[in-house]
Amino acid sequence: MSAEYKVDGSIAIITMNNPPVNGLGHVTRHAIVEGVRQALNDPAVKAIVITGAGKAFSGGADIKEFNSPKAFAEPSLHTVINVIESADKPVIAAIHTVCMGGGLELALGCHYRIASPGAQIALPEVKLGILPGAGGTQRLPRVVGLELALNMIVSGTPVASEKLAKTALFNTVAEGDLMTAATAFAHQVADVRPLPKVRDIKIDYPNYEAFLQFSRNTVTAMAGPFPAPLKCVEAVAAAVTRKFDDGIRFERDLFLNLVQTTESKALRHAFFGERAASKLPDVPEDTPIRPIKSVAVIGAGTMGGGIAMNFANAGIPVKILEMKQEALDKGLATIRKNYENTFRKGKLTQEKFDQRVSLITGSLSYDDIAQADLVIEAVFEDMGVKEQVFKKLDSVMKQGAILASNTSTLDVDKIAAFTQRPQDVVGMHFFSPANVMKLLEIVRGKKTAKDVLATVLAISKKIKKTGVVSGVCDGFIGNRMIEQYSRQAGFLLEEGCTPEQVDKAVEKLGFAMGPFRMGDLAGNDIGWYIRKRRYVEKPHITYSKTADLLCEMGRFGQKTGAGWYDYKPGDRKAYPSDVVNEMIVKHSADLGITRRKISDQEIVERLIYALVNEAAYILEEGIATRASDIDMVYLTGYGFPLHTGGPMFYADTVGLPNVVMAMEKYAKGRHGDAWKPAPLLAKLAAEGKTFN
Ligand code: 3HC
Ligand code: NAI
Repeated sequence: MSAEYKVDGSIAIITMNNPPVNGLGHVTRHAIVEGVRQALNDPAVKAIVITGAGKAFSGGADIKEFNSPKAFAEPSLHTVINVIESADKPVIAAIHTVCMGGGLELALGCHYRIASPGAQIALPEVKLGILPGAGGTQRLPRVVGLELALNMIVSGTPVASEKLAKTALFNTVAEGDLMTAATAFAHQVADVRPLPKVRDIKIDYPNYEAFLQFSRNTVTAMAGPFPAPLKCVEAVAAAVTRKFDDGIRFERDLFLNLVQTTESKALRHAFFGERAASKLPDVPEDTPIRPIKSVAVIGAGTMGGGIAMNFANAGIPVKILEMKQEALDKGLATIRKNYENTFRKGKLTQEKFDQRVSLITGSLSYDDIAQADLVIEAVFEDMGVKEQVFKKLDSVMKQGAILASNTSTLDVDKIAAFTQRPQDVVGMHFFSPANVMKLLEIVRGKKTAKDVLATVLAISKKIKKTGVVSGVCDGFIGNRMIEQYSRQAGFLLEEGCTPEQVDKAVEKLGFAMGPFRMGDLAGNDIGWYIRKRRYVEKPHITYSKTADLLCEMGRFGQKTGAGWYDYKPGDRKAYPSDVVNEMIVKHSADLGITRRKISDQEIVERLIYALVNEAAYILEEGIATRASDIDMVYLTGYGFPLHTGGPMFYADTVGLPNVVMAMEKYAKGRHGDAWKPAPLLAKLAAEGKTFN
């Protein structure tokens, strides 16, 4: 039973009870129908109230069931809503906290709706690549009007119940105890007939054609590769142009088609992937969390400033420590300027601006940060400097403080060993710009305590990051993989591509930027520095020398006004560079390579399968906990196209045997050694399995 039934005098109360959000899974749907039938058969019952237990009215259809027959098993959500709507006793929805998707559709099938203030009302299906499939597109426009309904359905954004109080969606938005108000209302309407039905309301929008055409144009321009937003418009249009039952059938067909699309599967994968990432199999969910009431950041450079802003944005005071007043002043001024820009764009109120700026203070003395609950080091990427800082932190920080490093390449276990408390040391690898990028790689050292991990995972949610745990290895999950991608990009230049061709091929797939435009933005010198280290430490790894030649020309990217591309002052647009293209062609000739025409398909396969193969090693070594964690790293930190679900999901979609077959083909080309399938990939492909 996942709905409880009780009778209070002449009012039956059905309480959906399917934690965490009363998802309308098969069992819950069945229990609701049973409850309604029981109430209808009980002569003592005059009205029915439906509500939700715990922290939601209902979060909608149970998304976990979507890939199983249970999703459409009877009673379907349509049937539930029909049973409610056609009941001959009034049914009242008592709505609180969260009322979304199928939950809202169920409420729209009720004869009356009462809500608590602050309840989040939404049809967020579009965010999962689908549309409301249980009447939402037909009923919502009838109660809130065509425009508002279309906005809500196309954006999926929640609206607070009190903002909808004046619409026909709610009979009352009730202050005070919701169930008291709902039962009182139920008594009031117990004998009122006929029972009002949303389906009978006429939509009044005289010039609807023009509005719908405008919406189609706007949505088409904004939807990118996702089919759902435009289908949402078409379904809402049907609410005006078709009879109700016909509109419902039309909506249903669109829904069933969208559920099957790769885009929707990818979005659902990302939804669950984000939530799964915050769970570690060996760290129980009830692990006590260390309170984080104040934070310190060491280093006010590029990363330190951005990191500090995250905490101030979440209302947590931050102290930044620097070595010299000048560096501190510069760092604090940059932070202030960032907030001023946001304020100027109207994205921050004066009050929030003042609050955030005042939450970030500076110091030159370790004594001032000793009581912080969490300290994040963001000093130069040099083991000697890290050693100095961590030894100092060990001697001054209060017991129980979490000592984190933002290192992007160094060994967190070595850093931990500089202290007497390695259990308190963890990596917190933010991505630049740290106040914007969603990804936070949480690097788990050999000795990192479980409660430290649980705390950092919790705090990452608080500062609105997607925290993904990585084991210790060179580059962690993200950068270790990107190295293989960059290597292939370099080889493609030697074999016949231009930077522009490579970039365009992956940008067509949906990447925000191809590898060469990305290099120009981040600075080509960073990769150069890493390769120089590799030439000494791992001489067996081969790289194309084109990137070194580019750096020798002083072309570090946008910051030097020239990189893989040419740039004009004050213009960030990348212009193909004759000098660079000549250098590339000459390099091929020097290597004795006859350049060939390379297809976009080969470019995409080589770049992405290089990521996938390295990821398979990462998974097998236990550096990543699960394949979806790797997808989350790439979706939130590396601009991997969302509609493909991340590299692992992409490979699963293509089919792992196909991935391996392509790799075998590329193994016959130059640098074929890079294409040895990782054992895990080979095994899954042979068994016909997937990563996810
Ligand atoms: N089905 C199944 N599980 C769901 C769910 C749903 N609709 N919505 C949330 N959950 C689960 C999450 O997976 C998570 O599970 P976990 O604890 O095992 O990881 C748990 O509920 C809590 O979720 P959050 O961490 O997101 O909790 P929040 O309190 O931050 O947010 C929420 C709650 C606002 C409901 C948010 O989870 C959310 O936006 N959920 C998606 C809602 C949605 O898209 N509904 C439409 C579903 S499709 C539909 O209804 C089709 C219909 O039109 C036919
Ligand atoms: P940066 O050079 O911009 O800033 C470093 C700051 O640390 C400088 O302001 C410097 O004065 C200060 N500093 C140096 N030694 C110090 C000490 N002993 N005590 C106090 N302050 C000290 O460097 P950036 O780019 O911010 O990098 C910092 C760390 O973040 C590095 O470990 C880097 O690898 C990592 N990182 C950098 C990313 C990037 O894109 N820049 C991305 C992710 C991680």
